[in-house]
Amino acid sequence: MKILLTGGAGYIGSHTAVALVEAGFEPVVLDNFANSHPLVLERLADIVGQQIPLERGNVLDTPWLEDVLRRHQPAGVVHFAGDKAVGESVANPLKYFHNNIGGAVSLMRAMETVAAETPDASPTLVFSSSATVYGDPASVPITEDFPRSHTNPYGHTKLVIEDMLYALHAARPAWRVGVLRYFNPVGAHVSGLMGEDPAGIPNNLMPYVAQVAVGQRDHLNVFGNDYPTPDGTGVRDYIHVQDLADGHVAAIKRLLGGSTSFTVNLGAGRGHSVLELVSAFERASGRKVPYRIAPRRAGDVAQCWADPGLAQRLLGWRATRSLDDMCADTWRWQSGNPNGYRSS
Ligand code: NAD
Ligand code: UD1
Repeated sequence: MKILLTGGAGYIGSHTAVALVEAGFEPVVLDNFANSHPLVLERLADIVGQQIPLERGNVLDTPWLEDVLRRHQPAGVVHFAGDKAVGESVANPLKYFHNNIGGAVSLMRAMETVAAETPDASPTLVFSSSATVYGDPASVPITEDFPRSHTNPYGHTKLVIEDMLYALHAARPAWRVGVLRYFNPVGAHVSGLMGEDPAGIPNNLMPYVAQVAVGQRDHLNVFGNDYPTPDGTGVRDYIHVQDLADGHVAAIKRLLGGSTSFTVNLGAGRGHSVLELVSAFERASGRKVPYRIAPRRAGDVAQCWADPGLAQRLLGWRATRSLDDMCADTWRWQSGNPNGYRSS
């Protein structure tokens, strides 16, 4: 059974491709490599022992997407493709509205057109949403019925796409839609062959810490130590990318099993502070991670973690890997590939 992964060469998509093969599916990667490297396909083949088909192109190209869908007839589509840098979205909102919202509309239209050619089709779509849709949550842990808001154009695109999917499902009940709200994906494939490869200076904590540990950056700036948290630094729900990948397999299985649409949090369900993550990384790597306390980063919240109970009840899924696993796997990837996929 084929599953089309838009943005499948990216960080989360590539790990999901592995999990799908392990679960007996046939992933097809669609990507324009705007934020990834073609070498990912070679690494994927090394891990799963088979070549994963690649469709190289842009999700904004609706007629081409229709052609891809007709040729592969996937049982489901996971829509990862999009831009994800919060700061860039503030500086260049139109890029985000065009690629993220435009890309989602293009995909939905292509799926609708192709589905109309087959009697009784049930277009099946899983969407990469984010805990960013909860804005500054009133309390933790966060359940799916918390109010949604946005504080930057990136977050706004996730909210708009969720709403478009809900409207589409209301108008076309045959569609099966899974909205997955990721918390903080980190870590790398346990083989050390695949991981996160941010372009330029990393925005997120784990890749920054990894680059400090490997000696590429001098020190970490800890954004604030005066939050109302146990050690004053920000607390987040870090989830191993392989656990997250398994969550996609569970969501696909549930939808293909005939379930109606759903929206679930994918998080580990516990919070770790910045300083806890730094200590865990030092243990995993055997390296010092020098840090300095810096001012708070605009738009940051004190704490954010999931109640993952709905995902467990609905999908039979829960995260199993610890913060130590996340750091050990990140370190294996970072130390073996200090310049990411450009190392080879
Ligand atoms: P990523 O940048 O590594 O992967 C996205 C992939 O999409 C890249 O390979 C990129 O080349 C591709 N892409 C972008 N625009 C495209 C287009 N128009 N046509 C074809 N391909 C295109 O990002 P990721 O971390 O794997 O994230 C995947 C999804 O999950 C994104 O939608 C992101 O917003 C969402 N998400 C990520 C995080 C996170 O922390 N990584 C958290 C919450 C949600
Ligand atoms: C960020 C994005 C969020 C996105 C999420 C997933 C912002 C404001 N939010 O969230 O929209 O959905 O990534 O990718 O960018 N930290 C440091 N020093 C650093 C980097 C981070 O101290 O160099 C701290 C942050 O203040 C925070 C924690 O580490 O307390 C985690 O930060 P990060 O990895 O950027 O994730 P989020 O802030 O949760």
